[in-house]
Amino acid sequence: MSDFSRVRQLLQSRRPGHALPQALYTSPEAFAFDLQAIFARNWVLAGLECEIPVSGSAMALTVGGSPIVVLRDRAGEIRGFHNSCRHRGAMVCAAGRSQRPVLVCPYHQWTYDLTGKLVGARRMQAEFDPSEHALRPIHVRNVAGVLYVSLAEDPPPFEEFANGLAPLLAPHDLPHAKLAHEAVFVEKGNWKLVMENARECYHCAVRHPDLALTFPTEVKAHFAADEAGNVARFEARMKAAGLPVGPTMGDFWQAIRFPLNPGILSMTMDGKHAVSRLMVEAEGGDIGSVRFATEPNSFAHALADHTFVFTAEPSGPLETIVTTRWYVHKDAVEGVDYHLESLVALWLTTNNQDIELVENNQRGVNSIGYVPGPYSEEAEALVGRFTDWYCAEAKRALGRLS
Ligand code: FES
Ligand SMILES: [Fe+2]
Repeated sequence: MSDFSRVRQLLQSRRPGHALPQALYTSPEAFAFDLQAIFARNWVLAGLECEIPVSGSAMALTVGGSPIVVLRDRAGEIRGFHNSCRHRGAMVCAAGRSQRPVLVCPYHQWTYDLTGKLVGARRMQAEFDPSEHALRPIHVRNVAGVLYVSLAEDPPPFEEFANGLAPLLAPHDLPHAKLAHEAVFVEKGNWKLVMENARECYHCAVRHPDLALTFPTEVKAHFAADEAGNVARFEARMKAAGLPVGPTMGDFWQAIRFPLNPGILSMTMDGKHAVSRLMVEAEGGDIGSVRFATEPNSFAHALADHTFVFTAEPSGPLETIVTTRWYVHKDAVEGVDYHLESLVALWLTTNNQDIELVENNQRGVNSIGYVPGPYSEEAEALVGRFTDWYCAEAKRALGRLS
């Protein structure tokens, strides 16, 4: 890592409770820093276990600019590796999901088994030792079917988060879900602007009229206010149904089961279940949503009929790749139990609205007239949590350097 002295100065100049200094949203140096300090270290949501259902299932993706592959080995164990051949570094697995008995590098056909061991390398000299050239492992953790990876040798503590989230998600049986749809967007905005936008609903009532019909967007931080007693009644009903509500919150995560608006059963355009084959049948599927979010780059909603997952991957100082996924019960049949269009319409609409907001935000942040302004303590508490976490994590990374 370079010394990133400019990033250090920018972090020092940040006013608490305010948006970040301009160059943290625009400069190549801050982008390079973020990949190393944030994405190469922290826990990143890779996908759901159900995307690699059987031995030999693999999914290849990019985390902080580095290609990785997560797979299920012959014993059924889930493993992760740097997707970089131990010969001359080519990507062994193409991006996306695949099914394979072994991993064969497309360049010179070095071949790895599903534990990462090098089992074939043609025409190498006698003294070449395959055992010294296994794929390099990365850390993978499975929380109730949700896979998180860390590229760090010594990742941040994970157990408290896992212990907090697992009971909330367990009733949704995510290990037995299936991926119904994936939509990928390229947003012309820094990843931190994408995530700040994703951490608040200050803009929802006006800019997401459809989303705003599904849950209370104007309540105080983290749905804490409950003047009408709706939350208390919801929590009592969930408790009676055996569904934990949390919340659980820590350094890099928050998760809570919260009530949707009265009469709303799911995050869909009409508020009804989009999938008739429910993932959670308790209470007729009137069970609100488990919102779970992790820094640096994810949020998700586990509903009775489907689960929606959002992740962001920085692809340049001013560009971010957003991946959104919808999961349904493994036995739900498209065209019979659900229509894809109704399942994805609300979040596709919302994402497209957010792209416009983020890109417009970036253009304004690029201005020579940009000055970081204050967050609303009531409406943007989770944005403040995100940027505070970012600054603290960035300072810790710089501390490790010195
Ligand atoms: S780079 Fe993979 S076999 Fe040569
Ligand atoms: Fe939004």
